[in-house]
Amino acid sequence: MRKSLLDLQAMKMRGEKIAMLTCYDSSFARILEQGGVDALLIGDSLGMVIQGHDSPLPVTVADIAYHTRCVVRGASTPFILADMPFGSSQITPEETFRNAAELMRAGAQMVKIEGGASMVPTIEFLVTRGIPVCAHVGLTPQSVHQFGGFKVQGREAEGAQRILSDALALEMAGASLILIEAVPREVAEHLCTHLHVPTIGIGASPECAGQVLVVYDIIGMGAEVAPRFVRPFIREAGSIEGAVHCYVTAVKSGNFPGAEHCYAL
Ligand code: KIV
Repeated sequence: MRKSLLDLQAMKMRGEKIAMLTCYDSSFARILEQGGVDALLIGDSLGMVIQGHDSPLPVTVADIAYHTRCVVRGASTPFILADMPFGSSQITPEETFRNAAELMRAGAQMVKIEGGASMVPTIEFLVTRGIPVCAHVGLTPQSVHQFGGFKVQGREAEGAQRILSDALALEMAGASLILIEAVPREVAEHLCTHLHVPTIGIGASPECAGQVLVVYDIIGMGAEVAPRFVRPFIREAGSIEGAVHCYVTAVKSGNFPGAEHCYAL
């Protein structure tokens, strides 16, 4: 049976780490399911790792819906989250609902939306109409041009405070997972202490309720210069299946991420 949001919440309650990976097709979905991955994210990172762009900005709702249908056909037990790509959630709550509904019809159980407090009305609109939302804070790759590159966020006190107040506002608005990307470990730990919903980290902290990585990064097929938070598990495991197994084991046992995968203030 497919895991539900309630299952992820129960995992957090009993202190069991959530192992999430991105996934874009049905063959990988089958391998990730067999390796014990709890949740699959159809991320707009597909713009880079599948389509060859230098950012996620060109990805469309139709692209995410297509890859979501592929993933859902390949695995019947992991929880499925689909990314709301650039331009699909920034105009009106009504338009966001239409786009999110397309991803839910493709098989997503939750949509992920980047952004801070300005997304509160949109998230309230979706959640009160039956669409669960994961909010994505910290380094939000769709804002790469505003940030001037894929840079760690929240190093200054003002930025750290804004990420915290954004995350609290998004939780209040009804977000039921918060994904924290590329912030200093101290900032991530502050978020984990103050939020009640499960937090999912990537370049954040081992304190998060779960972790996510881009699947191609764990099998050594990611960017030539990998971000600090990447551990190419295939080097220690020798095969794709082994890398997935090692990733899940390392997340569940608290061995990943280590201090070397986290950012300092
Ligand atoms: O698009 C994506 O794959 C993501 C993860 C890197 C968190 O948002």
